Amino acid sequence: MTKAVYPGSFDPITNGHIDIIQRGTRIFDHVIVGILMNEGKNPLFTAEERMHLIRETVGDNPNVEVRTFSGLLVNFVNETGADIVVRGIRAVSDYEYELQMALMNRELSPNVETLFMLPSVEYTYVSSRLIKEVFRLGGDISDLVPPAVLERLHAKLR
Ligand code: PNS
Repeated sequence: MTKAVYPGSFDPITNGHIDIIQRGTRIFDHVIVGILMNEGKNPLFTAEERMHLIRETVGDNPNVEVRTFSGLLVNFVNETGADIVVRGIRAVSDYEYELQMALMNRELSPNVETLFMLPSVEYTYVSSRLIKEVFRLGGDISDLVPPAVLERLHAKLR
């Protein structure tokens, strides 16, 4: 069985993330969405809230599992029994940071391979950071996040 981990902060999950998860399930038998419990980054949503939002959105797919993790990503990947990390790359600007992470993860755990995937072109400019900023300023982001996220953003920020 092919198993991959799709890690991230997902604060909150966007349609761009969902696009990558769906593409991942066409390639792998099992995709584990790994949410980093990065409370130090002062996330808008707690790890638990982020997990619920992702489960509400993609939880009906039996090939997708949603989990939280802390510490090193490679340790989490090895714990799950997966050996592939999936990361979405939107633009060239993402590549430098992603390259560093992938090579560092390879140094830490040579059995873990990183696979970069491209989201649908309509989501190449979407990021969780911009979603929060635009929503806070009253912009319409309803086409860019799942309905559950929009609802929670309203409850939190307006
Ligand atoms: O969605 P993000 O914030 O771009 O995801 C970054 C993430 C969670 C993949 C990265 O920060 C990570 O793997 N953190 C776990 C700690 C770790 O392993 N750090 C070393 C990475 S080389």
